[in-house]
Amino acid sequence: MASYKEERVDFLPPGDGAKPAAAAGGSWITRKFPFLATKKGKVITVIVILVIISGGLAGLAALPKGGSGNGGVTETIVDGITSDSHFYGQSPPVYPAPEMPGTGPWADSLAKARSFVANMTLAEKVNITAGASSNTSCPGFVPAVPRLGFPGMCLGDAGNGLRATDFVSSWPSGIHVGASWNKELTQKRGSGMGGEFRTKGVNVLLGPVVGPAGRVVLSGRNWEGFSIDPYLAGQLVSETVTAVQAAGVITSTKHFIGNEQETHRNPSGDIESVSSNIDDQTLHELYLWPFQDAVRAGSGNMMCSYQRVNNSYGCANSKLLNGILKTELGFEGWVVTDWGAQHAGVATALAGLDMMMPGPDRFWGSNLETMIKNGSVPEARLNDMVTRIIATWYHFGQDKAFPRPGIGMPTDLTKAHQIVDARNISSRSTLFDGALEGHVLVKNIRNALPLEKPRMLSIFGYSAKNPDRNTPTGGLSAWTFGTESFNHSEFMGGFFGTADPGGSTPIAQYGTLYSGGGSGATSQGTVISPFDALVQRAYDDTTALFWDFTNGEPPVVPVSDACFVFGNAYATEGADRRGARDDYTDGLVLHVANRCNNTIVILHNAGIRLVDQFIDHPNVTALIFAHLPGEASGKAIVSLLYGDSYPSGKLPYTLAKNESDYPVLGPDRAQGQFLRFPQSNFTEGVFVDYRHFDAKNITPRYEFGFGLGYTTFNYSNLSVQKDSPDATKFAELPSGPIRVGGQTDLWDILVTVTADVRNVGQRDGAEVAQLYLGIPVEGQPVRQLRGFEKVVVNASATTTVKFELTRRDLSVWDVIRQKWRLPRGEYKVEVGGSSRDLPLVSRVVI
Ligand code: BGC
Repeated sequence: MASYKEERVDFLPPGDGAKPAAAAGGSWITRKFPFLATKKGKVITVIVILVIISGGLAGLAALPKGGSGNGGVTETIVDGITSDSHFYGQSPPVYPAPEMPGTGPWADSLAKARSFVANMTLAEKVNITAGASSNTSCPGFVPAVPRLGFPGMCLGDAGNGLRATDFVSSWPSGIHVGASWNKELTQKRGSGMGGEFRTKGVNVLLGPVVGPAGRVVLSGRNWEGFSIDPYLAGQLVSETVTAVQAAGVITSTKHFIGNEQETHRNPSGDIESVSSNIDDQTLHELYLWPFQDAVRAGSGNMMCSYQRVNNSYGCANSKLLNGILKTELGFEGWVVTDWGAQHAGVATALAGLDMMMPGPDRFWGSNLETMIKNGSVPEARLNDMVTRIIATWYHFGQDKAFPRPGIGMPTDLTKAHQIVDARNISSRSTLFDGALEGHVLVKNIRNALPLEKPRMLSIFGYSAKNPDRNTPTGGLSAWTFGTESFNHSEFMGGFFGTADPGGSTPIAQYGTLYSGGGSGATSQGTVISPFDALVQRAYDDTTALFWDFTNGEPPVVPVSDACFVFGNAYATEGADRRGARDDYTDGLVLHVANRCNNTIVILHNAGIRLVDQFIDHPNVTALIFAHLPGEASGKAIVSLLYGDSYPSGKLPYTLAKNESDYPVLGPDRAQGQFLRFPQSNFTEGVFVDYRHFDAKNITPRYEFGFGLGYTTFNYSNLSVQKDSPDATKFAELPSGPIRVGGQTDLWDILVTVTADVRNVGQRDGAEVAQLYLGIPVEGQPVRQLRGFEKVVVNASATTTVKFELTRRDLSVWDVIRQKWRLPRGEYKVEVGGSSRDLPLVSRVVI
């Protein structure tokens, strides 16, 4: 067993290139964006700073003198912890790093990679483990080895479509996909995105995101992932990984793991990154669950996260990388850092990291050569890093007929460049359906929707229209980071670690949202805003139209058949949100509702957005959470409003009445004795979102899984069948060999459930039938999602849905035995249309 002392390699004393970033020279910014250290970069930095200053960033101005820009911490450390040694041993040491197993279909690729690596020189091997600059807009670029015919690799953002280039689509974002609850559609989106990345020669798609999961309601990046629920996220990440990789593009499932807040995500000054302190059971049952699905689906790459887990950096954490990912989950691919997330040399190599990004290298590169030569890092470890990278490249056939890395992705789109149109006409319907199905209708009274031949409509709110510019200027521009509807200088502040300590401005006031901001933003090309589509429709129907996008208290024509208020809730990488509601938009809704008796509210929300300030107003007749629909936004909303399509989305999160109803609202900050080492204690365990509301008996405004259609469904005929009893199948512990995703028998189907869903309304529709399970162990949640099926059911028709429960679905993580354990007892099975509307109940004994 590895000794306690070994974990200290995470923080070797200064001098060997492995010291904590905060103590090492240079800032994380220049490491993440090395060009900023160049002359041109310095000029850009100065300009950015001037823009921020002239932008009057309130938070920056408010920072106290000497403030760190990292939560505005100014307290002096009294009896504070000043040495990282205080935390040694909190994350168990797991060494050595396992070599790539090469099981099943990976055996061939491993063999090919081994002979490839055998021909490489030490310098060539070292070179391939770090990013290099390129003349493309790929945020990461693995250098070529021309001598051996390896052309290098482009790593491109992100999980919602290819960022920072032209001739690609803006796909619905993760939260929108989560709200669709549609596996088949998710698969089509994955294959459409994969095709586009491939055409542009992007070898690795930097996504999908299943971390953050969404523990912190106001976290800036929750919208990039599918859902706070691990089962829902797990199913959708699995579809995405499979589909993207079927197009020959490797997925980099991220950010592994516990990356639940933006505040303190990077070290700053002498403050280290926040530590997500997660117990083993919570880690497995909640945060690891969807990552496990991604590994099982064959994700060829994993991105380790910025922050620390149990006080050891995500990319230097041997328990997570060597222990969980590469041993327990049998991961075959390679691990890449998040950009600039490497803070140690020897330590990261030994902990299981395989590639650092974006380069040029600070801890590895020539240092890694030295480490190999002086024996600090065994050459076998370097060989394994490179083998994993090259084997994955072979595994996805990228050695054959893969487009040149980053082709048609110039650094500056405003310069003449080669046109590579990656869009495929066959994706059009998926973009539309994707946009459509992530809209969730939660209120609809007095038959407000669908509209019936309106004579006059009034449109209000900043989120109805496109921003005034769609200008793809090079460098760190608004277009590149999806901030043209927002305040770009504020975004840049957050991105470079000087976020307003109070959180980011709640709305994007200059226009509608197709995605959130940061590296998960989509490239906006031909985007259709709600206003664009409404005008078109109204013109064809000769409907009279009025609008006002800017006035918070606009004049309202009271004879309007309906008044739309379009608002949004913005969220971006680099900053957490200020709040879950905003008074400006709520005031606008109330103002309009006081003057128009059919006020329909549509919110493009990049995260949870509370509505209790207006939802009970009698003139607010309908509310749609429009999330982040991608380029077909306007077409989709108009189709829904007019009833050409039916709403079928359901909330992938719980909407509370009050902020205080959530177990964790905002991020943790450096404080008290932990001023230099901010701590985030995940003491609520698995009790987040509906698990918390159920346990504490809190009535939400709209529960997890809720969403209305234009029709209603009845549930009947629940049947729960245990698989034929054979001793090993129902044994308490799994005994299968480890393959990608973990022990193979975790995926055995032990129980099959069926139910009938009948459409008892007048219109056709689609329903998301949901199965929740109560596991008979004390301390487990009242219920947990363990199955869902989206089915189209025409008026008066009935369909049967089927759910298959695997061993893992029925198990709990046993911290002593370090395995998934199948408890004995009576399980409760509930089926229905949301987490609080479960008319069918049965039990099964195991
Ligand atoms: C983000 C990653 C992203 C990378 C490359 C980082 O700031 O956290 O999600 O893939 O940059 O742009």
